[in-house]
Amino acid sequence: MHRRTGRSGPIPMNAPTPTDGPRPPGPHDAVDRECMTRALAAAATVRCATSPNPWVGAVVRTPDGRMFHGATEAPGGAHAEIVALRQAGDQARGATLYVTLEPCAHTGRTGPCTQAIIDAGISRVVVGIEDPDPQVTGRGLDQLRAAGIDVTLGVQADHVAGQLTAYLTHRRTGRPYVVLKLAATLDGGTAAPNGTSQWITCPEARADGHRLRAESDAILVGAGTIRRDDPSLTVRDYRPPVMPAGGSVDPLRVVLGAVDDHARVQPCYSTSGDLGDVLDDLGSKGILQLLVEGGAKVAGEFHRAGLVDRYVIYTAPALFGGDDARGLFGGNGAWDISEVRRGRFVAVERVGTDLRLEMVPDHTGAGTDGPGVEAGSAGGS
Ligand SMILES: NC(=O)c1ccc[n+]([C@@H]2O[C@H](COP(=O)([O-])OP(=O)(O)OC[C@H]3O[C@@H](n4cnc5c(N)ncnc54)[C@H](OP(=O)(O)O)[C@@H]3O)[C@@H](O)[C@H]2O)c1
Repeated sequence: MHRRTGRSGPIPMNAPTPTDGPRPPGPHDAVDRECMTRALAAAATVRCATSPNPWVGAVVRTPDGRMFHGATEAPGGAHAEIVALRQAGDQARGATLYVTLEPCAHTGRTGPCTQAIIDAGISRVVVGIEDPDPQVTGRGLDQLRAAGIDVTLGVQADHVAGQLTAYLTHRRTGRPYVVLKLAATLDGGTAAPNGTSQWITCPEARADGHRLRAESDAILVGAGTIRRDDPSLTVRDYRPPVMPAGGSVDPLRVVLGAVDDHARVQPCYSTSGDLGDVLDDLGSKGILQLLVEGGAKVAGEFHRAGLVDRYVIYTAPALFGGDDARGLFGGNGAWDISEVRRGRFVAVERVGTDLRLEMVPDHTGAGTDGPGVEAGSAGGS
């Protein structure tokens, strides 16, 4: 899902319990894990191309080990299971279908996947996690079981939940998954006392930031950043493996506060007021992931309201060396050490000459991408 030369994704810690509880090891386990890993990899290729639908992967495995892969097509197109079933054709009869998210049982823009699975003669279905969408949840699995198909739930559930965090958050809360991204020096400076901040981080880190933009449905900054930097907030330095149908990965550009008509961010969505209301509004527009890119005032508001699901801080080996540079957050923070907000690092990666540190705060149950944190290398140049 992430563009990296070193490894395929951040390796986080504290794996959540699989959704169906522990399962005694069985004869299928090693093959199940491997096939679900393949399904996860297929899903990763379409991370930027399916929203507001979930980015799902599927694999059909025949009894003699042949594999057929599928991933969700652009909205209105086929779901991952259908793509894999089409690839398999007649060979799907008696085969096992692996799919990261519970197959749908309702008719939306496409027909129910469960019926297609039953019609194809699949004998076993292995699912990563249940779909919390009220139109689906549990029903897909029930229909498959009712048709006599052997269903296993919970294989690689932690990795699947991590990969689909934004989708799951949106379906469970109605709000986008909020990623706060900032670029800082080692001593936490995000802008010089005279307001200049371009560039604190290396080109590889900035390109990685564009990958984050491409994965997000909307990007938000404060009016202060627009006045100071006049950014365009487009995706320029990243091209996903699969592009969205319209050929553009540029997210909706959202500005808190008033924006000049001639600002480069135009056309944009200018909004204001209570941040919870702003998130409700964006959620109702189908925004699954919101990338907040600062500046310090806006970052502080989101942070203090407890609305950040993931902090992504690019840290450069550079020092402002005083107390007059702009920090990560504007406004008053914790007064006493006991009030410090804590969380856990879910990824630490080297990106070019910088580090990308990702923290999930303790107050949210949202997203790790799997078990265990490790230092890794992303850009490496
Ligand atoms: N290093 C980094 O990662 C990074 C990222 C972005 C920006 N920056 C730097 O940060 C500096 C700008 O930061 P900043 O703290 O001055 O400004 P900011 O956080 O970008 O914007 C703050 C402004 O946004 C508006 N605003 C905030 N919350 C609002 C709400 N709930 N409703 C309506 N309007 C709201 C207000 O605009 P009004 O004042 O119009 O009321 C407020 O003054 C620049 O120097 C920029 O270069 C650094």
